[in-house]
This record gives sequence, structure tokens and C-alpha cells, in this order.
Amino acid sequence: MTSLPLLRAACHGLPPLTARLEPWQASLLADAERLGRLVDAFGSPLNLHQADPFERNAGALLDVAEARGVELEILFARKANKALAYVERALVMGIGVDTASEAELTQALALGMPSDRLVSTAAVKSVELVRICVAASVPVVVDGADELDRVQAVASEMGKVARVIFRLSGFRVDGAELESRFGIHPADAPALAATIPVPASGKGGLRLEGLHFHLDGYAASHRIAGLGRSLLLADELRGKGHPIGSIDMGGGFPMRYLDDPWEWQAFRSALDEALLGRRPPITHGNAGMGRLAVDGQVAGELGLYPYYQEPVGPEWLAGILDAPSKPARGMSGGTLAQALRSRGLRLRCEPGRSLLDGCGITVARVEHRKRHRDGSWSIGLAMNRSQCATAKPDHAVDPILLRIQEPASRGAAPTPTSRAMPMPTSMAPMEGYLVGARCTESDLLSLRRLRFPHGVARGDLVVFPNTAGYLMHFVETRSHQFPLARNVVLSLGDPGTVTPDPIDDLV
Ligand SMILES: Cc1ncc(COP(=O)(O)O)c(C=O)c1O
Repeated sequence: MTSLPLLRAACHGLPPLTARLEPWQASLLADAERLGRLVDAFGSPLNLHQADPFERNAGALLDVAEARGVELEILFARKANKALAYVERALVMGIGVDTASEAELTQALALGMPSDRLVSTAAVKSVELVRICVAASVPVVVDGADELDRVQAVASEMGKVARVIFRLSGFRVDGAELESRFGIHPADAPALAATIPVPASGKGGLRLEGLHFHLDGYAASHRIAGLGRSLLLADELRGKGHPIGSIDMGGGFPMRYLDDPWEWQAFRSALDEALLGRRPPITHGNAGMGRLAVDGQVAGELGLYPYYQEPVGPEWLAGILDAPSKPARGMSGGTLAQALRSRGLRLRCEPGRSLLDGCGITVARVEHRKRHRDGSWSIGLAMNRSQCATAKPDHAVDPILLRIQEPASRGAAPTPTSRAMPMPTSMAPMEGYLVGARCTESDLLSLRRLRFPHGVARGDLVVFPNTAGYLMHFVETRSHQFPLARNVVLSLGDPGTVTPDPIDDLV
């Protein structure tokens, strides 16, 4: 067993971005042989899941709401990770699931998730999807007049009442409206609601029972504006007889991947210095990831997730609920929590990434190393970029290198390095990039240049920390017909079990 600081020292960025790790992750990393056996058994890369942090993260949000007397319903945004382990845990915990596709919805229904704890927020809704929602009485979050029309048509065809929630956007913050491709403008919502007769007719009626928004970014002030405006609209629609029972504030609850704010600051400064040519590049091809040097200045927004930010999760939610709400007709202002409470409105939310904080790691095997003429190295992994990525340019935390002796059973001729035990002191330092199996120059597992002070050998394992939120599945492809990574769930305990997640038999 190797200590965590020693493990971390075997691979770091320039400068380092040291990943926050959960105790279960740290103890697994300290047992490289077990991890090696798991990769041998399930393939590389391998996604490892542990759902206890999910329960803790959700519980912390519920505590914040309960302390303020707010009824909070959490619907886990399943698009952030496809593993069924989290749906199962949500079911046990009594929280719900926000589904964004037909498959996400039908799988949750098949596991027994009650319709009251489900919602469909799919960005584009087929007739089939709407039929499933109406048949199962799952609320549909409606994004405009065409969608409302489609839900109405399906409800008539089925002779059922469809539950609908209006998605809103265009809230005013600092004198400007927040732009979005999604949502109905709050000023347009009353006219659309007026097309829905109240009370809902038993045959083919619609029941407008809630308001919803999901905003880009992580600004608490935007959610405060969204909640404030939604409260006013809820009053107005209730006045017209619509049974508005909840306001859903969507996801985007911030989290952090790093413990150290200074590391994040140092990385950003080093990136700018490199772009200005004042230090050697710290990224492949001196990629600015949104930053660009022009006339001796660096401009543009860094396109990465804010790997260090505060407040996060529960503190962030508390700040929103404690923010002052505008007084409405016949109601005193008070805080947003008081405004929700006094109206008997439930608060709903759809966190994805932040509920998965601490729930996963992705492990891949080193297959080759190649030294370039400039002295830098390519370290080839048995995985590709789609298996640890999001729409953002990079996952900016340092991977962890685990030294493993290459097993003879893999058929490799023994090389000086694969026999070079004891590791890690016997090898010279290496610097370079982790490269993936797709045939493009851009298939890098990280754009960040990494240093391996004790080298890297074939058969070693590279562990990407905290990948459960989006990084495992959001952009995963079967390009080149590579098999998808397997997903296995660890239970804690002594010795703990390893169970394949059933999702891999469904996709
Ligand atoms: C409608 C909706 N709800 C919730 C989420 C989850 O967001 P996050 O994972 O940032 O919490 C998303 C993400 O795209 C979304 O589109």
C-alpha cells in the first residue's frame, strides 16, 4: 500500500491541480493490485461508482431546506450519469429523477420510481415520449406553444389529464435579460396558460401544476431572480385558477473538484503566462481553452468548469433561500424561503453534477509510451477522449498514476521497463501528454502537460478522479467500434462487493 501523497506525486500538471478525493477513492487507490484486477476483469477504461456520497450530497440539500421550513423535492438529473445505481439509490432515499429522454424515463419507471417523483425535461419531445408521460402521469416540462399543443393532442387521444409544468426563461438580472434557447418568457406565460381550461376536463385536459427554470452557469443571483419572478407568476396563475403547487429551480448547483483555491489561481495565471510566451506551454499546442493572447494581453473567458469555487452545494442553496424576496400583493417580502412557505409552494430542484460529487473514478491502462524528438512523451491509454470528457475543453484535475507490473498473461514481451521493479524509483522522469485510442491528433485525455517524476510503464494504471458527473457518459461514443466502458458499483465494507451496473446490458 502506498500513501496518498506519494501516489499523487507520481503524476501532476504544470502547475499541479490536486483532486479532491473521497475516503473510498483514497483506499481503492492505495490498493493498486485490486484496481488492476478489476481492470483486467472488466476492461479499460473502467468506470467505478460508489453511491454513498450521492446520498450524503442530497441529504445536505434537504437539511438546508428543512432548516428553513421549505418543502424541497430533489429530482436527480440523470443525464449527468447513466448508471442505474443512482436511480436505485434515489428510489431508496425517497427522492426523484429528472429524465431527459425516453430511455431515461422508461428505465426509471421500470425500476418502480413513482410518477410523482419523475419529470420529463427532454429538450425535444417526441410523440412517443409524451405518450409515455401522459400514460404514466409523469409531469411534462413544456418549453413552448408547440409542445403544449402536442401534449394536448396526446391527452385528447388518450382521454387522460396530462400534467404540465411551464419552463420559464428570460429573467432580468442587472437590467438585462438572461438569454436562453429554452423556456417561455414570464410575460408570455399568462397568455399560454389562458389556453388551458380550468379546472382540467377529465377527458383530454391539461393540468398546469408548476413552474420551472434551469439556468446556465452557477450564479446564485440568477436563481434568486428566477425564483422571485416565478413567485409573482405563480400568484398570477393561481389567481386564474391554475393549481400551481411547485417551483423547480433546475440544476447547476456548483461543486468543486479541488480543495486548494491557490492551485486554481496558479493554474490560470500560468496558462496566461504561457499564452504570452513568458513561460513554456502548460497545455498541448499552447491551447488557451478560451483564453487568447492579443497584443500582449490575454482576453476571453476560460472555457473550463470552475474547478474551485465557493460557495458550493448546500451553502449556495442556503444563500438563495435566505435572499430577500420582493413583497407581492397582500404578502410581505421576507426571504425567498418565507415566500415559498407562506404560499404553500414546494421547491423542486434537479441537480446532476453536484449530487455525483465524489461518486466515481475512471481507470485506464497504459498501453505504450513514445518519446518524441523534443524529449516529450505520448502516453497511450486504452481509452479515448469521449470516455472522460464533457462539452468543455478539458477535465482539469491531475490524474493519479498507479504503478503496476505488466502481467505476462497480457502477452507482452517483457521489456526493461515492465520488469523494472521495484517501482517507482527506478525510472527517469518523463513529461508529456496522455493520448487516446482514436485516430486523431486531438484524441488527448487531457490537454494539460503532465509530469511523471518517476516515469510511467506499460501496464500502469491512470486514474481520473471524480468523473461521475458528466465525464463518464455525456459525450461517450462508440467511434471506431470501441466497446463502451463498463460501469461497476462498489459497496463499502470489508471486503465490499463489486457489482456490474445493469445499464451496460441496456445500452
Ligand atoms: C433541465 C435541466 N435540469 C437539470 C440539469 C442538471 O444540471 P447540473 O448537472 O449542472 O446540476 C440540466 C443540465 O443540463 C438541465 O438541462
